[in-house]
Amino acid sequence: MRTQVAIIGAGPAGLLLSHLLAAGGVESVVVETRTREYVESRIRAGILEHSTVELLRSVGLGDRLTREGDQHRGVYLQWPGERHHVDFQDLVGRSVWVYGQTEVQKDLGRARDAAGQQVIYDVRDTAVHDPADPYVTFTVDGAPHRLDADVVVGCDGSFGPTRESVPGTTWQRTYDYSWLGVLATVPPSTDELIYAWHPDGFALNSMRSPTVTRLYLQVPSGTDIAEWPDDRIWDALSRRLGHGQDGWKLARGPITDKSVLPMRSLVQAPMRRDRVFLAGDAAHIVPPTGAKGLNLAVADVALLAPALVSLLREKDPRLADEYSDRALRRVWRCTHFSWWMTTMLHATDDPFDHQLQLSQLRWVASSEAGARGLAENYAGLPIGF
Ligand code: FAD
Ligand code: PHB
Repeated sequence: MRTQVAIIGAGPAGLLLSHLLAAGGVESVVVETRTREYVESRIRAGILEHSTVELLRSVGLGDRLTREGDQHRGVYLQWPGERHHVDFQDLVGRSVWVYGQTEVQKDLGRARDAAGQQVIYDVRDTAVHDPADPYVTFTVDGAPHRLDADVVVGCDGSFGPTRESVPGTTWQRTYDYSWLGVLATVPPSTDELIYAWHPDGFALNSMRSPTVTRLYLQVPSGTDIAEWPDDRIWDALSRRLGHGQDGWKLARGPITDKSVLPMRSLVQAPMRRDRVFLAGDAAHIVPPTGAKGLNLAVADVALLAPALVSLLREKDPRLADEYSDRALRRVWRCTHFSWWMTTMLHATDDPFDHQLQLSQLRWVASSEAGARGLAENYAGLPIGF
């Protein structure tokens, strides 16, 4: 097989890249290890930044998002006895949308179907070869395949193989706590997300729809999910989210999904070697506290697609040469913001940390300058800022 751009991974980065390339007249083939059903039902991100929504709408992917998504003006910041609304719309004139990654993934899948995009699911043994004149090998049902391409893009997420074929520097931080995430069939108890600091650990009250709530609890790394039966989860959520505080109540319902997510930050630079590029989680990972991972993946491919169109159609390498540096500017901004939110909100064993965290939260909640910094980063800077 031969194509212009071989894309490894059919997550949001890979499918959106194939969509944007097609709009620019460049053909691609996508290869993916998982089945389509698995990829479309993987419960992950829930918050889209302002510029992600604008981009999706501008390329014909915004209809269902506009109908079914929920626009939020801001978030609540909370600690015991206090809850404060940070209004992004008032502070920076931008908002965010609650729309699950599962739905973004389905919208992308349908749009690629309509365009006749070739996506090969359920592949094994993917490998990238010869970065200067690249090709990808993989097997399907045991049969070997080779895909030659002008360019290969690794959109293969945090554990994919492409990062290793792009040598460079890697910066990493692991956190010694994880998130226990649950999905529950119960209407959300809040109109906008609640980020709660608590001496027992962080808690987050998010949502997916008028009938589905998404909740997270800080737990120690290495936590076994079996130690957390549903009642223990609801009791911890109630305590940390302030059930009963000023008459607020956390509604309980059947838990339909439960998982433990380790937290880490990772940045790899550069995001290119010769004709092999990286985009999304393949190049960088952020802890989920700032809701940045999916949005960063979208921002990467929004820069990469026009760069590859110029490279392949006009033989103009300038944007492709700038891609890594331009993408990394935003990556480091979001890496800092995600680290900052994470360290401000997650309890440690150190009482000195607690006081610093509370002081920081009071400042963000009460000073317009503090709140505006959070709002600008959370609602997201313009693509290519
Ligand atoms: P992925 O979605 O990981 O896609 C990579 C694809 O590559 C996968 O489908 C994988 O199967 C495939 N692949 C891997 N190896 C190979 C191979 N060898 N060959 C072929 N294919 C391969 N982000 C936000 O912006 N907001 C949030 O609110 C948010 N919340 C999150 C909550 C949770 C619980 C988690 C886990 C993540 C969250 N994120 C959030 C992060 C977000 O989900 C990721 O950043 C996003 O999925 C990155 O997209 P991607 O396409 O780069 O990678
Ligand atoms: C989610 O709804 O899954 C979610 C929301 C905000 C975050 C992380 C995850 O910061």
